[in-house]
Amino acid sequence: MSKVDVVLGSFYGDEGKGKIIDYLGSHADAFLRATGGNNAGHSIEVDNEKYVFHLIPSGILNKGTLAIIGNGVVIDPKVLIEEIKSLKEKGKDVSNLRISTKAHVIFPYHIEMDKLQEEKRGNSKIGTTVRGIGPCYCDKYERCGIRIEDLYTDKFKEQLKINVTNKNQIFKLNNYEELDYEKIYQEYLEYANYIKEYVCDTTALVHKLLKEDKKIICEGAQATLLDIDFGCYPYVTSSNPTIGGIITGSGLNAHNIGEVYGVTKAYASKVGSGPFVTEQDNEIGDTIRELGHEYGATTKRPRRCGYLDLVALKYAIDLNGITALCLNHLDTIGKLPKIKLCVAYKKDNKILDGFTTNLEELKQVEPVYEEFEGNFLDISKVRSRKDLPENALKYIKRIEEYLEIPIKFIGVGALREEMIWEDK
Ligand code: IMO
Ligand code: MG
Repeated sequence: MSKVDVVLGSFYGDEGKGKIIDYLGSHADAFLRATGGNNAGHSIEVDNEKYVFHLIPSGILNKGTLAIIGNGVVIDPKVLIEEIKSLKEKGKDVSNLRISTKAHVIFPYHIEMDKLQEEKRGNSKIGTTVRGIGPCYCDKYERCGIRIEDLYTDKFKEQLKINVTNKNQIFKLNNYEELDYEKIYQEYLEYANYIKEYVCDTTALVHKLLKEDKKIICEGAQATLLDIDFGCYPYVTSSNPTIGGIITGSGLNAHNIGEVYGVTKAYASKVGSGPFVTEQDNEIGDTIRELGHEYGATTKRPRRCGYLDLVALKYAIDLNGITALCLNHLDTIGKLPKIKLCVAYKKDNKILDGFTTNLEELKQVEPVYEEFEGNFLDISKVRSRKDLPENALKYIKRIEEYLEIPIKFIGVGALREEMIWEDK
């Protein structure tokens, strides 16, 4: 029986997971998404065409590869259909898409609630993507959510009426426009009809595939420090983007998991509010942002940028059982004359024992840096680690030594093939 290889974000998202998934998946039989929703954004460039995926696993681009959206994903059908249509317009075959019967559906009231809650948070905004993700997961746990399979039953109309009525009470109190349930009902019936051909029991499907010795790549969305339990709460997303979420969001079991690839950039970035110990809110951060084109794929927001934080990475490795690291944007950080690497946190002149998600403590810690020489320019043609300049080698060797896991992928440029892949 084959194993599922998983690709996870190791920091605050946007680590370039899409590129690794694309690379690993070139011979896969199926790609699987298990968590999050259209708060994620993976961009991939193939044959000079740029594809941005928010919901559909990018394996849909490979002929014959199944693209599975698991039960743990929250689906905005409007966005999903736009993605399907845009793929079809580019001549891509979408018939290999599979959508879990059990995935929860995002409705317009979730998006309005997301907006309202952010407004109410005033100065302590989370900086959500305002895609209705949090409110949809809330309804799931409140047990009033509507799942994909419900869209095809009488329950849909009843539950939608209850939900819209309840949400309208909140909207009314806050001078928000009330929503028309009948209009939403008609709109979503059309969506349901459009996606019906793709809906199936994806848990049964993944187990069948594994028994047939088929290769599945699971693409993580979001990242470890955005995890609802293990991230920097409350500045997190509303799901578990760590390994546990991959299991509950798909119906895989722990024995099914093979390699766990942790993706990071050679520097760090974050969108939204919350702690970021190695942030460079200065010229260095601005330079990294411009060199790395650090603007959101989902919300276009400029990303906060800083140095790579090995303390946080070590935490991500322990939590997820990461077996190998993928280091993107080595070319970007190499353009700086000097590079720093955070190797410890210090508080009141004492070195702390690893990472902490306690916000008060995180606010007070100071990063302890080691400094490296940069200026390793033009490495985009390098395809073997031994051909990297000395300064680049010193930097990545220190990362491996500290984290005690191998770096298997090194991104040396923006293009699909600009990558060193060493399976040692
Ligand atoms: P990918 O898959 C980066 C962040 C938001 C916000 C917090 C909560 O592209 O790496 P939400 O809308 O999820 O309730 O917002 O989480 N966030 C991400 N940041 N990349 C992502 O996904 C993100 N998905 C959510 O910015 O701080
Ligand atoms: Mg993103």
